[in-house]
Amino acid sequence: MSETYGWVPEGVDITVPDASRVYDYALGGVHNFAVDREFWHRAEEAFPGAGLVARANRAFLGRAVRWLADAGVRQFLDIGSGIPTLGNVHEVAQEANPDARVMYVDIDPIAVQQSRSLLEGNPYARVIEGDLRDPEGILYHPDVLRLLDFSEPVAVLTVAVLHFVPDAADPAGILKRLGDAMVSGSFLVMSHAGPDATPEGRALQEQVRKLYERTPTPVIIRDPEAVEALFPADFELVAPGVVSATYWHPDPDEADESPQPTALVAVARKR
Ligand SMILES: C[S@@+](CC[C@H](N)C(=O)[O-])C[C@H]1O[C@@H](n2cnc3c(N)ncnc32)[C@H](O)[C@@H]1O
Repeated sequence: MSETYGWVPEGVDITVPDASRVYDYALGGVHNFAVDREFWHRAEEAFPGAGLVARANRAFLGRAVRWLADAGVRQFLDIGSGIPTLGNVHEVAQEANPDARVMYVDIDPIAVQQSRSLLEGNPYARVIEGDLRDPEGILYHPDVLRLLDFSEPVAVLTVAVLHFVPDAADPAGILKRLGDAMVSGSFLVMSHAGPDATPEGRALQEQVRKLYERTPTPVIIRDPEAVEALFPADFELVAPGVVSATYWHPDPDEADESPQPTALVAVARKR
């Protein structure tokens, strides 16, 4: 039986799995279709740690935003923000500081539409459709310029999105172009798919990587050195550097979560 939903924007193909909807389902969300759910079940079957990786990534996002808010950051540009789910950036940032500005950007029209309806009435949080591979299209978008002041520090978040950007699209160059628009004291936040710790794990992970070739956004796995090399030269990594998500400033009640080497994360500050 085919699914029809009033909330699906025109032109969205719901016959192929999509990274944003697959991740939404992995985190327990409802904005996904049979094809996304079936995709996720196959991914979990191939790589049983996949659910833990998604949750560890999302938990890192929340901790990083809290940490940045504590460090005095009041503006956030979240690129590849996804379909709204538990612990959205504006909720975490505005809990710490009700005036915090948050601009969401995603390439997926469903993620944009769902974010827009969630943000209605929130004067300091907005969303645009945009492509990380076109940083100027984001930086100079009129809505971005209206909300964010680039003469003040900004945290640019690329969380679980750069592994959809192949080397041919020059991910380091993209981050440099973003970094060049940011003043000293700004931050880049990243999480990225990394290799599993064991050869057996890497073989299972390869099956998931192959599955993602069926989506509009195939995944590129990069090791910690390659992830570190993506940061612009004028950014320095905040301790503890590039680590498994669960090791980045863990909350005491999360300390028992097993480390997921395939969820690499890092935060860097512009000198
Ligand atoms: C796995 S989700 C991550 C969501 C959120 N950042 C998080 O970590 O909880 C990845 C998101 O990146 C988006 N995405 C993929 N390629 C993109 C691109 N080139 N530009 C902007 N967004 C992109 C997808 O649509 C999806 O919503």
